Amino acid sequence: MVIVYRSNTGFTKQYAEMLGKAEKMKVYSLTQAGELDQGTEVFFMGPLMAGHITGVDQAVKRFQVKGVCGVGMSPASQQVLDTLSKANYVPGAPIFYLQGGWAPKKVGWIKRRMVNMVTRSMRQALREKGSRRTPQEQKQLDFLEKGGSFVAFEHLSPIRTWMQEQQPQK
Ligand SMILES: Cc1cc2nc3c(=O)[nH]c(=O)nc-3n(C[C@H](O)[C@H](O)[C@H](O)COP(=O)(O)O)c2cc1C
Repeated sequence: MVIVYRSNTGFTKQYAEMLGKAEKMKVYSLTQAGELDQGTEVFFMGPLMAGHITGVDQAVKRFQVKGVCGVGMSPASQQVLDTLSKANYVPGAPIFYLQGGWAPKKVGWIKRRMVNMVTRSMRQALREKGSRRTPQEQKQLDFLEKGGSFVAFEHLSPIRTWMQEQQPQK
């Protein structure tokens, strides 16, 4: 199995490279993956856009997708994972979620506006708290307004465990 990823602002690429290094697996961007044989077994990773994992449809058409991971800006939770699984069903492949980051300066204005519309009420509520914001809430507000990264190696644990379970059947 190899890792194939799609990334617009770099967070998914960081996770894919970290995972590849840790699990000693080859890593290809979706473009580079053109050189792979059709039907190659892949673990696909892509950024979330309006709940959809970008690139997963292309990956499913070309490869044998054994596992999928969506990378988004919201904190990981069971609810996020459930919603993700419903909207991005790949037969026989488990789905994972990783919190990446938000890089408003690296996306075009239309996309920035789309995200800002979704996070508007949250930003407004946090701003209205003023000096009553907890340090955690301040961090969240800075993240939504200016961007930031939550990429962390530890988040890869569930994926690494699953990958290690796959090995005996290789
Ligand atoms: C137009 C647009 C829509 C997005 N929709 C979602 C979303 O539905 N859920 C989410 O958690 N993050 C969403 N994001 C945030 C990205 O998924 C997040 O920044 C991700 O880490 C980007 O990964 P990348 O750097 O590999 O491109 C959206 C971003 C953009 C620009």
